[in-house]
Amino acid sequence: MAHNLIPPHGGELVNRMAPDEAVEELEREARELPQLPFNSRVQSDLDLLAVGAFSPLTGFMKEADYESVVETMHLASGLPWSLPITLSAREEQAASYFTGARVALTRDGEAVAILEVEEVYGYDKRREAQLVYGTTDDAHPGVAALYAQDELLVAGPVTVLRRRPSQFPAHNFAPADTRRMIEEKGWRTVVGFQTRNPVHRAHEYIQKCALELVDGLLLHPLVGDTKSDDIPADVRMRCYEVLLEKYYPLNRTILGVLPAAMRYAGPREAIFHALVRKNYGCTHFIVGRDHAGVGNYYGTYDAQHIFQRFEPGELGITLMMFEHTFWCSDCEGMASTKTCPHPAESRIALSGTRVRQMLSSGEMPPMEFSRPEVARILIDAYRSDEPVAAEAR
Ligand code: ADX
Repeated sequence: MAHNLIPPHGGELVNRMAPDEAVEELEREARELPQLPFNSRVQSDLDLLAVGAFSPLTGFMKEADYESVVETMHLASGLPWSLPITLSAREEQAASYFTGARVALTRDGEAVAILEVEEVYGYDKRREAQLVYGTTDDAHPGVAALYAQDELLVAGPVTVLRRRPSQFPAHNFAPADTRRMIEEKGWRTVVGFQTRNPVHRAHEYIQKCALELVDGLLLHPLVGDTKSDDIPADVRMRCYEVLLEKYYPLNRTILGVLPAAMRYAGPREAIFHALVRKNYGCTHFIVGRDHAGVGNYYGTYDAQHIFQRFEPGELGITLMMFEHTFWCSDCEGMASTKTCPHPAESRIALSGTRVRQMLSSGEMPPMEFSRPEVARILIDAYRSDEPVAAEAR
């Protein structure tokens, strides 16, 4: 690996994909193994483990890592890591697994990965909810997903036989691919942008402010599971494609995708998002207002403040923090609560509900809020049969 790329978290980029020549034999083996079916969120974790996006993790967390992550936001080794990556199973399934046993992880009856069981352990979901999500409320989508898990956790390294085919093959760059592209472009500094919402002017503004200070921009929409009222990934990707064509310097921009599920863990997920983007080769990462938040569970800047709990340099990636940004008609441009002295009346701020109403009735939101090319795609999506919803943040 070229010396100018940032090292992956923990030093080495993990690869848990079975080598091509071994797949047939492993598939044969998997047919004889106990089967553990899993859901779409676990599929995302497997896809990311396979390509080292979760480096240094090689599989699902054992109890020492799980406890340490939940309590202290560090792995047992002392390396920062903020969210548990776990695999749950029902008692009657997992009780029969013994250390060293191999289990086929299956989806729709097909073996996707083989797990080498190192531990099976119990866990307290409410405690995890409180410590990781800051709430035990099952109206929180991340907490609801946690409560829906089975009772035991099965831990150990995985070997992935096949990844889920990407909906976005032209943008589905693994960490190693992305690192190669960064190297080819000769960028020494790269800022990563996480997003789960349709791109709007505030997003574009903070991306470009960040790009003023570094060599390249990795736009990295999250395309795994999101809550049902978030805009689907294919619509969001279409928005990015038209925007890039017209408004972005292509020699300084990569549009990739992150096939992760959204957890809505706010501050803890901001750290996780940053570490994962470091594995993709980013030296910098953007955290704006209410990053990875949902409802009113987190304060506007909690996801920025949490980074103070780490020693300088401990995360190995530089944060670029932005306050709430908007168009200000007195400034005659984009600005933020940090840079704009004008009153609220001068600022174009639309509630999510208002934007939803406008889009579904075919009305264009003001161009100070959304580029017209993007608004058109969103209006079309609203008018088609696709189930969509907008969240303007
Ligand atoms: S998130 O769940 O992925 O954080 P979203 O796609 O809305 O949601 O946000 C992507 C990034 O842009 C996050 O870092 C978020 O904090 C930031 N962001 C979104 N809207 C604004 C805004 N108006 N001002 C400043 N930062 C923003």
